[in-house]
Formats: sequence, structure tokens, C-alpha cells
Amino acid sequence: MTPVRVLAVASEVYPIVKTGGLADVAGALPIALKAHGVEMRTLMPGYPDVMRLVSDAEEIRRWPDYFGGPGRLLAGSRDGLDLFVLDVPHLYARPGNPYVTAEGVDWPDNGVRFAALARVAADIGHGLVPAFVPDVVHAHDWQAGLAPAYLHYDNRPQPGTVMTIHNMAYQGKFARELIGAIGLPWSSFDVDGLEYFGGISFLKAGLQFADRITTVSPTYAHEIQSDEGGMGLGGVLRARAGALSGILNGIDTEVWNPQTDPHIAYRFGAQNLTFRAANKAVLQQQFNLDCSDEALLLGVISRLSWQKGLDLLLEAIPTILREGMQLALLGNGDRDLQDRYQAAGRANPGRIGVVIGYDEILAHLIQAGSDAILVPSRFEPCGLTQLCALRYGAVPIVSRVGGLEDTIVDIGDADVSGRDATGFKFGPVTADAFAGSLRKANTVFHDKLTWRRLQRSGLATDVSWRNRAGDYAALYRNLIAARA
Ligand code: ADP
Ligand code: GLC
Repeated sequence: MTPVRVLAVASEVYPIVKTGGLADVAGALPIALKAHGVEMRTLMPGYPDVMRLVSDAEEIRRWPDYFGGPGRLLAGSRDGLDLFVLDVPHLYARPGNPYVTAEGVDWPDNGVRFAALARVAADIGHGLVPAFVPDVVHAHDWQAGLAPAYLHYDNRPQPGTVMTIHNMAYQGKFARELIGAIGLPWSSFDVDGLEYFGGISFLKAGLQFADRITTVSPTYAHEIQSDEGGMGLGGVLRARAGALSGILNGIDTEVWNPQTDPHIAYRFGAQNLTFRAANKAVLQQQFNLDCSDEALLLGVISRLSWQKGLDLLLEAIPTILREGMQLALLGNGDRDLQDRYQAAGRANPGRIGVVIGYDEILAHLIQAGSDAILVPSRFEPCGLTQLCALRYGAVPIVSRVGGLEDTIVDIGDADVSGRDATGFKFGPVTADAFAGSLRKANTVFHDKLTWRRLQRSGLATDVSWRNRAGDYAALYRNLIAARA
């Protein structure tokens, strides 16, 4: 196996900085790739948490003026991850969420902040760090999208490039004037370059110039080539269909392991699924739900956004109440959804429990104690919570979109697909269809043997990164061979 060097570029990396699944992927993939002969280093911005946590970081480059202020490139490691950290205080030394202000609006200079990240990625691609000259630069999402574009316009020998789309809804759109400020030629303002509806898009830049494009499930790879799923970039993706593929995400099966999980009340595995009942009781307590093993306890761990379809769940609350089910929801995001969920919780004590916030420990308990995990997304590139659910014996109830379609086998499809059923899928993504699948799940829940079978096939499903990392390794090697 020829060793391969890859520079990954990501704006968030678990366990250092996380707002969503991108961080989970950026944190787990490099570790899983080691077994496949791929040495990956990840470049990320030096937010305060990064500067605090990557304490052994060594300065390898210093600039008196990097995009308007002093900057440094550091190399360090943390939790088995080898990192390059771009420390540019005037761009990244800001508290809280990496993308938005305390008021929840985008930082006005996000264009410059992430252009700066991509610029140094391209420079590392050209050999800025002699000890690590990558064969491939792998950009994640719009924040890294300019890396393939800089490499292209630099017009020098360059490494191979891969652009991974985690979510088409975030496209990194800015005014055209930014081009002058970030050191790209004006010729890049072109329909075959960065131009996007009169402005520019960093994601489009990545899609135009990367040698290979991947997204996080085969079904999403198909969906985004339509006008609707492509959200404005469907045409670009259709034009590049030959370079596009879908590779499913995995989860870190050490972090998500019900047999060793330090965050749950009672540990369990396939052999002692009955222990879940004790976690369910703790979860009911924490969410002020009536203590009952007989009620189907539905769990949600999610960003509260239009994507996730959680307004449909609000509409299904009468069904949940009528059918004697319970709901424990942990989430944050849209103010309006937060308010509506809190109101639903207040109106239905003992039946609907709501925690607004981001809480990783509670997320583990919800996986361990809920009977079912709900993911009613309108679109879902891959989705990770349903994968964690499979591993924790919580039965997923999901919409038939994107990675949810690819990772869950519906109870009604099992015979046709020849695979064992692991959950419930509904479509179209409407409140009625969702409520129907909740009613169906409730019926099956009271058929203990069938429910147990669903749980067991979930636990037997491989949700690890092992094979999926192999797919990325093969992609890098094919790309390198094709360029040779
Ligand atoms: P997305 O990246 O679109 O938000 P994913 O399902 O890919 O969706 O990943 C979400 C990740 O974030 C999962 O690891 C999930 O457990 C976690 N998560 C989401 N919301 C919360 C929350 N409120 N508290 C704790 N963890 C959360
Ligand atoms: C995005 C998607 C989610 C995916 C995650 C990691 O945030 O919304 O479906 O699992 O990225 O790829």
C-alpha cells in the first residue's frame, strides 16, 4: 500500500470545535484513515478553543500581515489528530460559535475569514511546509471551498483536490467585490468560475475546480443533481456528474459505544438490552416525563432548522398524546421553533419534555434511553443521529431522503431488499405521513418480539468508519493515479 498524504481543510473538528456533523466527520475520518495507509493532517482556524486545547502547537510560519493583521501557522496534535492551526487573531479570536455573532448573525467578514483559511491550504498544497507536502488537498464544505480555486488560479504544479459537500444549503455566498480583497484574479468572476447569481459562492468555487467531488451519501449525491436538491447548484453538479460520488459517513464507535459510555446511567450491549429500561427511567426523570416503561419514548437530538423537519413533529404532537407516547427533545437553533417546543412542553407536562440547548452528555442519555429516535428531515445529506441510534438500540423513525434512505431499512422493505429491518421510513415528508409512521411504530412497539428484532438488527449494522474510510482511501489513490 503506497502511503498517501492528505491535507484536510475543515472549519470545525470534533472534539475541539463542533456545531454539527461536519465536526464529527472531520474528527473521525483522519483516525480511521490511518489503517488504510493515509496520513491526514487537518487545517483549521485558530478559534480561542483551538488555541487553548492544542497546547503543544509549534509555530512553523509567521506573517506580519496576513489578510490585514499578524498571522501564524502552527502544527500540533490533539486526541490523535494531527493539526495545522491558522492563528490569525483579528479573524478568529472571537468567542462563541465559529460563524455567527452572539446575536446569531453571520460575522460580516466571513468571506475574508475563510478565504484566509483556503489560501494557506493552497500554500501548503504548494509545499509551504516541507515536512508535509500533500498528495491531495481535501476541502470540506464552503468554508474550505476556495482551496481548489486558489490552487487552480495559482497556475503552478498542484496536488489533487477533493471537495466534500456536507450540506448544499450553506453555499458561502458573498458580494463580487470580495474577489479583490482575497487575492483571486478578476477573471475568476465568471460563470465557469466563482460567479453565482451576480455575486460569488465559495462552494461553487470548490465544485468547479476540485478534481473529485464527494458528498456524504449516494442518495444525496443523486438528489443534489436536481434543481430542487441542488439549491441553485444543480446545473453545476450535473455538469460534473462524472466527478461526483457519495460516500456514507460513519460514526466514532469508541465515542458512541453503549458498553463503555461514561455518560449513560447503565451500560449495555446486544446481550442485555433490557438494561435500557433503567436508562429510560433516568431519561424520563431528567425530562420530567411520567415514569412508565409502557409508553413509547420518542427522542430527538437536533439542530432546530427547516432542514430537520421538526415543525412537522410539532404538528404530530396530538398524535403522540392520543397514542400514549412521550417525547424527549434536545435541540437549539431557530428562535421560533425553540419557543414553540417550549410552549408544547409547558402545555403537556409528563408527556412532552424539552431541553433547549446543546448538551453532548444528554445526547448520549437520549440515545441510550429513548425507544425510538426521530429524524423527519426535509433533506439530509447523511445524518449521524440515526447511526448512533442503531448502535444504541433506539429504533430510528426517519424520512425517506438522502442518507436516511441509505442507512435505515424500513420494516416494510425488509423482505424486498433482503436486508433485516432496522426502523421506519416515511415519505413524502409531510406531517400526515410522519404521524402515520409514529402510529405504526407505536403498534410495533407493543409487539415486543418484533421490536427487539429491530433493535438487534440495528446493533448488528456496521456504522463504523472502517469501510467508509477505505472508500476515501481508494478515492485518493485513484485520483493520484489518474493525475500521474
Ligand atoms: P447536522 O450536521 O445537519 O446538524 P448530523 O446528524 O450529521 O446533522 O450531526 C449532528 C451532530 O450533532 C450529531 O453528532 C448530534 O448528536 C449532534 N447534536 C445536534 N444537536 C445537538 C444538541 N442540541 N446537543 C448535543 N448534540 C447535538
Ligand atoms: C451536514 C448534514 C448532515 C451530515 C453532516 C456530516 O451537517 O446536514 O446530514 O451528516 O453534515 O456530513
